[in-house]
Amino acid sequence: MKGIILAGGNGTRLQPLTFAGSKQLAPVYDKPMIYYPLSVLMLAGIQDILVITRSTDLPVFRALLNDGRQLGLNIGYAVQDEPRGIADAFRVGADHIRGEQCALILGDNLFHGANLPTLLRRSALKLSGCVLFGHEVADPQRFGVAEIDRRGRLVSIEEKPRNPRSNLAIPGMYFFDTQVSDISGVLKPSARGELEITDVLRAYLEQGTAELVWLGRGVTWLDTGTHESLLEAGTFVRDTQRRQGIRLGCVEEVAMYMGYIDPDDCHALGSEMDRSPYGQYVMERARSFGMGLPPTVLSEEL
Ligand code: DAU
Repeated sequence: MKGIILAGGNGTRLQPLTFAGSKQLAPVYDKPMIYYPLSVLMLAGIQDILVITRSTDLPVFRALLNDGRQLGLNIGYAVQDEPRGIADAFRVGADHIRGEQCALILGDNLFHGANLPTLLRRSALKLSGCVLFGHEVADPQRFGVAEIDRRGRLVSIEEKPRNPRSNLAIPGMYFFDTQVSDISGVLKPSARGELEITDVLRAYLEQGTAELVWLGRGVTWLDTGTHESLLEAGTFVRDTQRRQGIRLGCVEEVAMYMGYIDPDDCHALGSEMDRSPYGQYVMERARSFGMGLPPTVLSEEL
């Protein structure tokens, strides 16, 4: 399965911060924002990943992630200079997807929770149609919203409805089968002029092949679209890491536990940052690999 991280947009709600660079490179406590969605794709078992950014930001993303080989990945880049909508990712990424199944994650979405790696791998493995996730929120009008009937079946999908039919928001992470290119290829822009991801999801719903997977209370989902939510995300990461002595979104550690790189490679990546607590953590995880407790990265992290 191919992966796409959508990391374009103008970040207007975060100006003037985003005058200085891409929002998805802004720090969320101790690491650039994109580490979090990248680690989610990696945990889903995806190694072939396209990062979509503005042309001005592309060199910075490339300097950060290179071609992904150091993490056992294959990372490519494509440009989207105008925010034409989330579903535009399938057009920009058409060569990358090339008739394969595909997972799309928004570069500003963070996930953390107990059974998330299992949910992700299951969604990627037995995909027939599309998988979207549902998460209860207090302010559903800010998001795509899923409505379910009494039996828990998905019955409608709406983008930022004024009067939401449920409090089940649809987070920015989706799995699609090979039809996604054809479906997004014929989409028309919405009233606000964007190719809406919710229109793609609705096309699958109409076919009867959209599966809603409920992210229960054990999963935290944060998006970082405002100054307030960016700070909240940083605080959440700091507090969780401090309390548990682990790191969220640590791509080197995830790569090692997923078997994409070996512990020696992981240790070498950490040693390049050995003056930072992050680098020291990476080295420590590499040294203790295979000893003691089971890898928390697979049971608990992102
Ligand atoms: O966060 C989840 C929500 O994301 C979903 O519930 C909604 O259905 C979905 O439309 C989206 O809503 P947002 O209001 O958060 O979308 P936003 O325009 O802020 O874009 C989300 C991210 O995707 C942001 O980091 C910028 C990037 N983006 C967005 C567009 C429209 C692009 O890179 N290119 C684009 O064309």
